[in-house]
Amino acid sequence: MSYDLMILGGGPAGYNAAERAARAGMKVLVAEGRALGGVCLNEGCIPTKTLLYSAKIYDYAKHSAEYGVSFSDAAIDHSFVIDRKDRVVKTLVGGIGATLKKMGVDVVSGFGTILGRNADGFELEANGERFSGKRLLICTGSTASVPPIPGLRESIQSGFGMTNREILDLKEVPKELAVIGGGVIGLEMASYFNSIGSHVTVLEMLDHIGGPTDREIAKILQNNYAKKGVTFLLGAKVTSIGTGCVNYELEGKSSSVSCDRVLISIGRRPHTEGIGAESIGLLLERGAVVTNEFCQTNVAGVWAAGDVNGKSMLAHTAYREGEVAVSNMLGKRDRVNYLSIPSVIYTNPEVASVGETEDSAKSKGLDVICKTMTLKMSGRYLAENEKGDGIVKLVVGAEHKNLLGLSVIGSYASEMIYGCAMMVEKEMRLSEIQKFVFPHPTVCEVIREATFSF
Ligand code: NAI
Repeated sequence: MSYDLMILGGGPAGYNAAERAARAGMKVLVAEGRALGGVCLNEGCIPTKTLLYSAKIYDYAKHSAEYGVSFSDAAIDHSFVIDRKDRVVKTLVGGIGATLKKMGVDVVSGFGTILGRNADGFELEANGERFSGKRLLICTGSTASVPPIPGLRESIQSGFGMTNREILDLKEVPKELAVIGGGVIGLEMASYFNSIGSHVTVLEMLDHIGGPTDREIAKILQNNYAKKGVTFLLGAKVTSIGTGCVNYELEGKSSSVSCDRVLISIGRRPHTEGIGAESIGLLLERGAVVTNEFCQTNVAGVWAAGDVNGKSMLAHTAYREGEVAVSNMLGKRDRVNYLSIPSVIYTNPEVASVGETEDSAKSKGLDVICKTMTLKMSGRYLAENEKGDGIVKLVVGAEHKNLLGLSVIGSYASEMIYGCAMMVEKEMRLSEIQKFVFPHPTVCEVIREATFSF
């Protein structure tokens, strides 16, 4: 049998593309080497959110007296939380399998390798079987970066070091957890283990946490976690992983942090080893498949979506890219607008951003005005967070007064950012945003209010 589309990888890019393509009448094959749902469902977005929700409930219980509610014996059972996470993941992964089956998509369990071209178009091998099809969509995702820091690889082999994969199955709660990298994974895991009682030390080589997050907001987040007991070592260069410790240099001085476990969360790299890129002359750059905004590669009939293109490395980008690739295969011109992709850090408080930050706008030479407003302007925010220090920050084009970017730290940030993404995508003028009625009382009202401060 010859397929209309053969997809390598069943993560958010691959499974969504498979569904969209099958709905449009294509005969689709998905080759998945581990589990449907990919990193997002099995060892990323969903498991971490399950853990973080339990931690949030526990945090609420610990601080409930501030709201007139008493608990004398709030406790968290980490292994119960891990089991619940496994159940949630199983349900969702099963759901994807069932949906693909219903749509008539064939799924082969095995990592797909492109063998080259044949009379049908392309040939693929997975789990010892060969398949042929007209088109290929590469959605093989990414893997955790493990740089050549002495002792790092060995630490992962011994179980002392963990990536995002192993930490999600850790049964015991480490007394001391060292986190290398103060990016998204590092901060979310620091948040969980801090809530459930570990002492967490974050070692970050830059002078700030949160990577591209607005600096003012990253600082508020850092202060929140410092108050909760997390230690931040900024500007720390990790030199080696020892026995029960992480060695680092800070301001020219060597030092070390003792810990029971260490999480390595210093970024991810596209997964292209073994996919057979060379068999069809697929162009890679620093290990990533090169794609344009239509998700086309340099080879006609071959598309790529998700982390494997190294562009945005977010599940929701992958999801959209898979969709865009299929639309273009069907002759519908569709493109990914990489400027208005929201990003969220699911800490407590949450951080969400879209579009430009003050720094990114300035580095591009854009003439912008930036203003912040406290979320305490919102009655709902104050009712729920008397001690909160959340803010929203707007980046506005100086000439047309159009919204170019927005960052927010505080409750519900993750749920309100999609609306802001639409405003940024449409480069809405503040005067247009002001014509919308926002529901009251909500935290997002502050966004509308902030537009009047320009
Ligand atoms: P990241 O790129 O977000 O952060 C890595 C951090 O490690 C950076 O701050 C970097 O400066 C630091 N770093 C790099 N090398 C270092 C070293 N040798 N010593 C100390 N610090 C070092 O990467 P992360 O957190 O591993 O996340 C990987 C990917 O997963 C990201 O692309 C992220 O967007 C995605 N992700 C998204 C989530 C979300 O949307 N909520 C949740 C989790 C992951």
